[in-house]
Amino acid sequence: MSNKHLVSIGDFTKEEILKIMELASFFEQNKSERLLQGKVIASLFFEPSTRTRLSFETAINRLGGRVIGFSDSGNTSVSKGETLHDTIKMVSGYADMIVMRHPVEGAARYASEVSMVPVVNAGDGSNQHPSQTLLDLYSIIKTQGTLQDRHIMMVGDLKYGRTVHSLIHAMSHFGVKFTFVAPEELSLPDEYKMYLKENSVEFTETTDFMEQINECDIIYMTRVQRERFSDLMEYERVKNTYILRSQMLKDTKDNLKILHPLPRVNEIDKDVDDSPKAYYFEQAANGVYARMAIITYLLGVK
Ligand code: CP
Repeated sequence: MSNKHLVSIGDFTKEEILKIMELASFFEQNKSERLLQGKVIASLFFEPSTRTRLSFETAINRLGGRVIGFSDSGNTSVSKGETLHDTIKMVSGYADMIVMRHPVEGAARYASEVSMVPVVNAGDGSNQHPSQTLLDLYSIIKTQGTLQDRHIMMVGDLKYGRTVHSLIHAMSHFGVKFTFVAPEELSLPDEYKMYLKENSVEFTETTDFMEQINECDIIYMTRVQRERFSDLMEYERVKNTYILRSQMLKDTKDNLKILHPLPRVNEIDKDVDDSPKAYYFEQAANGVYARMAIITYLLGVK
């Protein structure tokens, strides 16, 4: 039987996404089901991470599995010149699944073609971050009661933001309306706009943060990612363009929730943290349940 991978959110159908939501809810209520006993999962992080790596590793531990891997490829034979091909080929002989983050777009797809076991993309450059998307969807369901017909405002770095790219794709299944708020330099790439048009998804673009803030159900804030800029002067110019402050929320909808994949730098002022509309830390906690669901689903563990 061929392996099922999660490299792009498009690897999952709408039905599979909904199945993951069901499983995540099950695992939230059953936090220590020992379904991975005897399984070993490799956690290969070629790029820094706090949430994704630790929530995957928590998920594996809660499921009774074992983790091998690294959080700094500088301490591995990659530093001696070993290729990604050889690293993946070899690790897939050790483990039952590989969770991998890599700075190069397409690295996870390449790994899935080389690997003998399922590969989960934990973020590849500015391309995709599908496990983040599944926890984002789970957070939307938990706070809105549905994924259907939401108005989502995405703010910040829509050009390099891989969480944005994956979430746009996933929400397109659910009658969504998007408002994109970004400086011109960081606007959503054309390929995603074309995808939305082809799938008849309504969206508007603006540079005015306040224009539709009172109409949306979700504000999805993102960090301007210093590490993606080759010109640091340009980063300095755009980094503080959009900062969400609590006074901006005064006329927003009662059901509004603020999401952020985190880490934040200063795009959400700390005074927002006390608002009942702030949901980003709960969102991060939901990552454990969503990742328990992804792992068991891909391994076919009942
Ligand atoms: N959301 C996210 O990917 O966070 P980390 O970079 O800390 O894993």
